[in-house]
Amino acid sequence: MCGIIGYIGDRKASEVLISGLSHLEYRGYDSSGVALMKGSDVQIFKAQGKLNNLIEILKDKQDTCSNAHIGIGHIRWATHGLPTTINAHPHTCDCKNLTLVHNGIIENYQELKEELTTLGCHFVSQTDTEVAAHLIAHEYGKTKNLLKAMQSAVKKIKGAFAFCAIHKNEPDRIVVAKRNAPLVIGVGQDENFIASDIPAIIEYTKKAIYLSDGQVGIVKKNSIEIYDENDLVTQNKIENLPFEAIAISKMGYKHFMLKEIHEQSDVVRNVLSGKLLSHDDKIRLEEFKLTPEKIKKIQRVQIVACGTSLHAGMVGKYIIEKYAGIPVDVEPSSEYIYRETIADENTLVIGISQSGETADTITAIKQVKEKNSHIIIITNRADSTMARLADSLLPVSAGIEVSVAATKSYMAQLISLYMLAIYLMEQKGIEKYNDEIVNLKQELIELPNKVEALLENTDNIKQLAKKYSSYKDFIFIARGINFPSALEGALKLKEISYINATGYGAGELKHGPIAMLDENMPVLAILNRGIVYDKVLSNCEEAKARQAKLIGVADYIASKDKDLFDDIVIIPSVSDTLSPALNIIVLQLLAYYIAEYLGKDVDQPRNLAKSVTVE
Ligand code: AGP
Repeated sequence: MCGIIGYIGDRKASEVLISGLSHLEYRGYDSSGVALMKGSDVQIFKAQGKLNNLIEILKDKQDTCSNAHIGIGHIRWATHGLPTTINAHPHTCDCKNLTLVHNGIIENYQELKEELTTLGCHFVSQTDTEVAAHLIAHEYGKTKNLLKAMQSAVKKIKGAFAFCAIHKNEPDRIVVAKRNAPLVIGVGQDENFIASDIPAIIEYTKKAIYLSDGQVGIVKKNSIEIYDENDLVTQNKIENLPFEAIAISKMGYKHFMLKEIHEQSDVVRNVLSGKLLSHDDKIRLEEFKLTPEKIKKIQRVQIVACGTSLHAGMVGKYIIEKYAGIPVDVEPSSEYIYRETIADENTLVIGISQSGETADTITAIKQVKEKNSHIIIITNRADSTMARLADSLLPVSAGIEVSVAATKSYMAQLISLYMLAIYLMEQKGIEKYNDEIVNLKQELIELPNKVEALLENTDNIKQLAKKYSSYKDFIFIARGINFPSALEGALKLKEISYINATGYGAGELKHGPIAMLDENMPVLAILNRGIVYDKVLSNCEEAKARQAKLIGVADYIASKDKDLFDDIVIIPSVSDTLSPALNIIVLQLLAYYIAEYLGKDVDQPRNLAKSVTVE
């Protein structure tokens, strides 16, 4: 979380910084700020809340904005200290000569702050970043050289950071540093850019240098110098950025989330393209680097992910265990990293992440890399930190997802996992499910049309949203392969509407949660035809007996059972195995329309960020 940006060249720095920050707003929106440098004059502007507040402030500062061609900027997701203007970046030291923006967390900031306080430093904010600003300034006092000051400061810092620093005595450069937080330098002609992520700079350049952990760099108008962790000059490859400048617009939709929900049929087509050609063809997965012999030796699969990606992984468990016959553990990355995990060269580890920058999952992958397990990364960002750690990279190509609530990336992850499960089965030569798989492949091919059919008329879901928007709590239930759908539906609702929603395995209801049921608790049940249909129906009866309002989401409900429900949403006919891909669209839409009806900030819900780069 947090995004940083830097510019040095001939353009108006303020324009580049603001445009860049607008593309980084998915990383946080608690506050924003820029520092504009002209000669030895540095002006800092900050605003609490959304970027628009900063833009308003800059409107009255046109003189400063027109004259400055060097600057750094920041968009904040608060970690240390309230989301106030005082805590907004950039931060400075006592003499105000050094100015710093930072993404990450400095773990030893308290210790450093105490040391610096005894040396006479005064702190005005509650942030860890201000401590880093004072530390670098203190080191500067020893050498009068910003690069050297940064190099010695980062050796004293524990934790994660991407830094951009400017100094009044060195007005021709921005000094950058990185450890466990993303940083890319956009290479231009007589100008250079720095950003946490490429959408911030893609409209200016298609060439970039990715900094590695431990590297420090000097970015000038006409040159970039990189130093490794031993302070020796090093050369980083200049890479071509992987996507064209895209007009990231809402295309007429009220919110990005709604647009992204509606893009899901194309997302399915994209993921299937080149991998699934026909129902009687084998899955082609050139990205998967293990030979069939090695695949046969896989003893276990471990899936690590967070949030929505974790729910996709939970669906993956059902299909990989069933079709490939390999035991699968799915675990939140944040838990995986703090216990002794058992993995070896016969373990396949799957990291799933929309952003590829989730700190918990990156740490999990780094830990397991030392155990020689084969690592597959399923991500929407082939240019991400996680992608670079992959032995096999499965980019899902859902396209840039702007809304903080993940929708189309979940769909892309699900379909990728279906591909992977079938691929593993086929490479292992398992024949038990051959007929079923032919049907599943045909269904996958037809899925985009079913997604479109579902999205064609959503009036019933809008009506439901209106009806249920006044409830304060919600329960989602399902069993089997749709249990993760219940969890994901509840997550979607709570993150954008702030309604207290929880997903349960329907069979678990009677073991405690049923105590909460009464006429004020709507229960949404997912019941696709399959082995658990009757069981979920019984659980619905139990809920109804406690007067809960009952919503059914299903591809079919027998006439005799319909009266049980207050409301029903019927999805296109689909097998139980593939039903999570359609059920989730109903739940995404329900969450969307409830939040929209309640007037919530759908694309940028409070307290959240799209990319969670802190542990
Ligand atoms: C999704 O709606 C959430 N905002 C969040 O749970 C997200 O899925 C999680 O932070 C993981 O992100 P990643 O997929 O980028 O790793």
